[in-house]
Amino acid sequence: MMVNLSPTLSLVLACQLGVYTLVTAIACRGGEVRAPDPDDYIIAFSSCLQQFSDTSIWNRIAEQKPKLFLFMGDTIYADTHDMGVKRRAFARLNADPNYIAFKKSTRVLAMWDDHDYGLNDIGGNYAEKKQMQKIFLDAFDEPKDSLRRKQEGIYTAEEMTIGGKIIQIIVVDVRYFRTNWTYGPKIPPYTRTYVDDNRETSTVLGEAQWQWLSMLIARKADLRLFVTSTPVLSDDYKGERWGAFPRERARLFREMAAAQTGKWVIITGDRHFAQVSHRDDVLPYPLVELMASGMNTVWYDGSQEPDRYRDGETLPDYNFGVLRIHGRKGSLRYALHNGAGEEWKRGEIRF
Ligand SMILES: [Fe+2]
Repeated sequence: MMVNLSPTLSLVLACQLGVYTLVTAIACRGGEVRAPDPDDYIIAFSSCLQQFSDTSIWNRIAEQKPKLFLFMGDTIYADTHDMGVKRRAFARLNADPNYIAFKKSTRVLAMWDDHDYGLNDIGGNYAEKKQMQKIFLDAFDEPKDSLRRKQEGIYTAEEMTIGGKIIQIIVVDVRYFRTNWTYGPKIPPYTRTYVDDNRETSTVLGEAQWQWLSMLIARKADLRLFVTSTPVLSDDYKGERWGAFPRERARLFREMAAAQTGKWVIITGDRHFAQVSHRDDVLPYPLVELMASGMNTVWYDGSQEPDRYRDGETLPDYNFGVLRIHGRKGSLRYALHNGAGEEWKRGEIRF
C-alpha cells in the first residue's frame, strides 16, 4: 500500500488520496505532538514485559494518559510448573514502582499468554492451568465475584458507551483450551515451526468460549475490539498463530462477518516488535490488526521476516499502542509508539 516514500510525502499522499477509504496508515517518525481532545477515550495496549529488566516504559505509556491499559500477555516471564515461582514473579511485577505509579491513573485489564500462563507456546495441556487461573486473577486484582473466577479460562468482555457509541472490548483466551501445536521443520530464525492443523477436533477457543463470543456478536455495537494474545491475520509467520488452525480462523472470520452491526479491529501482541497489518478479503472493509509487543525486549530477526499483509515496515523497538476513540465523530485514531514514547505510525478507522 505505502511504497518507499519519505514520511512527509507519505503523509501528504495519504491525506490527499485517502489511501484506502476506511483506514489511513501514515508513517511518522518522532516529532509529532498530538493535540489532546477531551472527548477522546484513550486506551493503551502492549505485551511482553520481562520483570527483571527495565520497566520504565510504564512512564512513557502513562504520558499518553490512557484510562485503560490492555496488557495482552507475557505480563511476566516464568516458564515453570512451580507455582511458587509464578507467584513470586507476579509479586515482583506488583512491587515495581513504575507499574504501581502507572496503575494510579490507569486501569489494567490483563490477559495471559504462554510465559505467564505456563510454558513457552503451551496451550490447554498445561497441567497447572486451574491453579494458574487463580494466581493470575489474584495478581491483577480481579474482583472475588468476577465471572472470570467461576468459568474455565479467563476470557472477558467489556462494553462501554462513548459519545453515544457502543464500544465492545472482547478479550479472548487462546491458551486454556487450545489444542497442542503440530510441529513442522526447523526454519531459521525460528527454534520451532508449526504446520496447519485442520482436524475437526482441534480448537483455539474451545466450544464454551465460542458460544460466549457468538452471544457477544449478537449484541449491538458500533466498534468491536478483538483482543488476542497471538496474531490472527498472518499467513507467513510459522510460529504461534491463529492461521495454524485454519478451521478455527475461518470460524472467527465467519463470526466477525455475521455481526449485523459494528466494525472490527484486532489488537494483538506476542512477537516482540510492532506492526500494522490488514486484509481486504475477510470483511466488506479492511480488517486491521494492530500489534504491540515487547515492552522491554525486541525480537529483531522475527521483525525482518516477510508478511504479505503488513503495512510498510515493522518497528523492532520497545513499543506500545494507543487508541483514541471519539464516539460522536465515529473515529478511532490509533498510534504505535517506540520505547522512547515517540509516535512511530498512526492511522484512523472510521466506524
Ligand atoms: Fe513474549
